[in-house]
Amino acid sequence: MKKVLFVCLGNICRSPTADGVFKKLVSTQRLHNKIYVDSAGTAAYHIGNPPDSRSIAAAKQRGYDLSSLRARQVISADFEEFDYVLAMDNENLSNLKSICPESAKAYVGLFLDFTALPVDEVPDPYYGGEGGFEHVLDLVESASAGLLQHIQKEL
Ligand code: 4NP
Repeated sequence: MKKVLFVCLGNICRSPTADGVFKKLVSTQRLHNKIYVDSAGTAAYHIGNPPDSRSIAAAKQRGYDLSSLRARQVISADFEEFDYVLAMDNENLSNLKSICPESAKAYVGLFLDFTALPVDEVPDPYYGGEGGFEHVLDLVESASAGLLQHIQKEL
């Protein structure tokens, strides 16, 4: 079993989108018994909340159901539990590295390292317009395909 944790700031926009998109891809490929998917935030603001309604709506248009997800904060045990802890932006990554125990087994890096697109970060859509949520989905779909290809070689 390989375990993947997607991480953003609030766990209500970007990482739940990655969670829903990657879970659907894993399930379509009949790999749900081999790949476990979860998401979390570096901040505590939204613990227990469902994803942002704009993220839920944009994802639903593309066939992803995010409605049952609930926000949680990253904990130190996540770095022992998960094989991949993947940040949406460089600030998330630096926060993750600052709390990652030395003994951790997880690969801690940027999610977009798994796409060939010439971008590093999934921009935070929270304070922007609707286009930001579509852009998040475009980046997440591309990186999800690349991540699955990468993990399949390890199964
Ligand atoms: P996320 O977006 O990190 O993609 O979930 C945000 C959600 C909430 C806030 C910031 C970013 N906030 O400041 O409450």
